[in-house]
Amino acid sequence: MNKKIKWGIIGLGKIAQKFVNDLLLLETSELEAVASRDLEKAKTFAENYHSKKFYGSYEALLLDKSIDIVYIATPHNSHEKLSILALKHDKAVLCEKPFAMNKQQVFNMVEASKKHNMFLMEALWTRFLPAIKKIKNIIETGEIGEIKYINADFSFKANPSIQRIYDKELGGGSILDIGIYPIFLAYLILGIPDKIIAKAHFFESGADSQVSIIFDYKNAQAVLFSSFNSNSKRIAKISGTLGEIMIDSPWNEASSFSLFKDNQEEKFSVPKIGKGYAHQIIECNSCLQKNLTESPLWSHQNSLELITLLDAVRKEIGLVYAEDL
Ligand SMILES: NC(=O)c1ccc[n+]([C@@H]2O[C@H](COP(=O)([O-])OP(=O)(O)OC[C@H]3O[C@@H](n4cnc5c(N)ncnc54)[C@H](OP(=O)(O)O)[C@@H]3O)[C@@H](O)[C@H]2O)c1
Repeated sequence: MNKKIKWGIIGLGKIAQKFVNDLLLLETSELEAVASRDLEKAKTFAENYHSKKFYGSYEALLLDKSIDIVYIATPHNSHEKLSILALKHDKAVLCEKPFAMNKQQVFNMVEASKKHNMFLMEALWTRFLPAIKKIKNIIETGEIGEIKYINADFSFKANPSIQRIYDKELGGGSILDIGIYPIFLAYLILGIPDKIIAKAHFFESGADSQVSIIFDYKNAQAVLFSSFNSNSKRIAKISGTLGEIMIDSPWNEASSFSLFKDNQEEKFSVPKIGKGYAHQIIECNSCLQKNLTESPLWSHQNSLELITLLDAVRKEIGLVYAEDL
């Protein structure tokens, strides 16, 4: 495939609007079509973002043969169903995080990707940011020694009008929505922990409002936190035997960080394109050009391991969704 990659977007909510702004910055892709459950909403979105076509149902977009890849931007509980449906329609898929509600669902999605031989990737956009890639490289060179401690959080005072956050049916709660980021960082740097300790507070709906987590490794610990109850500056620290990296706020959108070593601070500026979503789009475009069915940077196995960690934290705090039963 040596052409512009044609994108379709399903579910035209808040993240779809941010994503499309970055998509339009790239010359390797174009916006072919958008779909909403509401035709008027799809029409307005298409006009605002210069989409060639618009549809009033997700299924109608999936029948459009000109689309190469679909970006799924709907609530968590619909990710598995829509991803598998798209793969069945021979569409490559970039699906929002969390990839699905639990490990079984992610497994089903991966199986569908294999069965239909179609590309599938979780929209874990932080993984593709140039700053995060650079930090991973620095750590792998051993420059800050052996990593002993990570501290990362994602916390903000949520707007009560955003119903998705509280609604357990839609996968509401901090852990799947934003706790996934600090968990991702610990997993990216330290891998799978030997033990997980976690304690949560809950909304009346039963969705978690805040969670404190310790990932315990043989030679390291990660202290992680997510919450919809209070604002936090979102600075992440990665501490090694020879030095420390501090990722500037908000760390999961990073374009700069500091390396502290030998009583000196070295500042790194690693610019990103747009808001940063562009880099996962570039990764998808590149994988499709190479006829890959998964990204080497964020593989199916990575997504399976990340959701396994989310499942384990939920087990610790006793958070069960209907999809688990
Ligand atoms: N990567 C990131 O930085 C980031 C940021 C925020 C959210 N997310 C993820 O993206 C997904 C969507 O989040 P969002 O904040 O964009 O949510 P949102 O503003 O509520 O938009 C979700 C869209 O999904 C569609 N939808 C389908 N079934 C729905 C249902 N039962 N209830 C509500 N909406 C439904 C709607 O689109 P139509 O009406 O057009 O059909 C809706 O506008 C979530 O999984 C979230 O974790 C990622």
